[in-house]
Amino acid sequence: MGKTIIVSNRLPISLDYKDGKPDFKTSAGGLATGLGSIFEEADNIWIGWPGNYVEDPEQRAEIFLELHEHKMAPVFLTQEDIEEFYEGFSNETLWPAFHYFTQYIAYERRFWEAYVRVNEKFCEAILKKADPDDTIWVHDYQLLLLPKMLRDKLPNATIAFFQHIPFPSYEIIRMLPWRRPILEGMCGADLIGFHTYDDMRHFLSSVGRILGLSNESGYIQAENRLINVDAFPMGIDYTKYSESADSETTMAVVEKFKKQLGSQKLLLSIDRLDYSKGIPQRLKAFDQLFKLYPEYKEKVSLIMVVVPSRDTVKEYRELKEEIDTLVGRINSAYSTLNWVPVHYFYRAFPFEELSAFYKMSNIGLVTPLRDGMNLVCKEFVASKTDQQGVLILSEMAGASKELQDAILVNPNNMDKVTEALHMALNMSEEEQKTRLVSMQETIKRYDIHKWVKVFMDRLKVVKDKQEEFQSK
Ligand code: F6P
Repeated sequence: MGKTIIVSNRLPISLDYKDGKPDFKTSAGGLATGLGSIFEEADNIWIGWPGNYVEDPEQRAEIFLELHEHKMAPVFLTQEDIEEFYEGFSNETLWPAFHYFTQYIAYERRFWEAYVRVNEKFCEAILKKADPDDTIWVHDYQLLLLPKMLRDKLPNATIAFFQHIPFPSYEIIRMLPWRRPILEGMCGADLIGFHTYDDMRHFLSSVGRILGLSNESGYIQAENRLINVDAFPMGIDYTKYSESADSETTMAVVEKFKKQLGSQKLLLSIDRLDYSKGIPQRLKAFDQLFKLYPEYKEKVSLIMVVVPSRDTVKEYRELKEEIDTLVGRINSAYSTLNWVPVHYFYRAFPFEELSAFYKMSNIGLVTPLRDGMNLVCKEFVASKTDQQGVLILSEMAGASKELQDAILVNPNNMDKVTEALHMALNMSEEEQKTRLVSMQETIKRYDIHKWVKVFMDRLKVVKDKQEEFQSK
């Protein structure tokens, strides 16, 4: 058996500069943690972009060597690639389309050309490292063309693809001028995974209607190959979050924060800056809570963490301004000398402080307008080791399929979100416990390690079936 090559747009580290010298930060994100268990084994490697532009060829060579030591191979992007491939086709065309924000879709030929060019760049980087019996696992919407590019060069390779964001209805996919090469690109894989059954169904329907390929129980027959398509809802590192919640470090941070905040009830929201996360809608529902129930003034606050992201893209910059204005309006309307309704942070936090936020907040408010999975809600649930706390979760998040014991809301229905807040603030301790225990069982059973194992086991099954099929 060969090695496994993990491929994602970003490497599990990010490159920054300290005193003009490259400086790496390891990512604590879900994917990095989950795939860490595979990536560290044997000769396995990770290929991806280090997340910044590196102009100096000497510095590129240094970075290459440094990453090589850590079993990673960088794909360097030019300024143009970053603008047209990353910001452009990935985040101004595919991202809005796949999240149903059709009004934001950019239809730019030069973005598409850059997308093809950079997918080819990734392909070349992989071909330099790949042996015929290797397994190549490609991740996410930035690399939809890669499975086919690899298949054309390595016809017998084991290639898997996982989509971390939603896959939209055929009605959206058909709008894209490049719908055919996109679907053909994905179909280069042996196994294609999505977070939810709905995403999988949308994909199969698009493949049927655009490529004319039908399927039987999730198996597509394409030329002389079988392609399996299925749902694999991604989990979190449950133990990491539950253990951290009870650790001395977290308890000390909680203690410190609580002293500053007093005895008020806390709502928590944590997101990357993104219009798909429904942040303004959430703030409006929170504002309405004080209008309908003034008794919550000075008793309830929202801790809102917005992690900076893609702020070179126009829609993200505008969203940031909208959020700033809304927070300003709410705080100026209700604040008193010893109470602020919204504690708003536009920055990332270290793991221990996030863990403390999860631990000490009474309500997790996770209301994206559309989200492939959403791991924040799972992290909140896993951190509630005393089984007290309420999760309010959007029906539009992939996680809502598993977390049916949350208070599920349509994030566009402001009245319902306000009502859910009122209900959560008054939920009995017994009911909080019953709901949390049930959700904890679900996410503990299907954690990130299980997710990787189930996916990889399925890939073996698909390869065996294929051999059988091709020998007929
Ligand atoms: O999960 C979706 C995703 O786009 C990942 O592919 C990505 O690594 C993450 O969100 C953060 O986005 P970005 O890489 O654009 O900062």
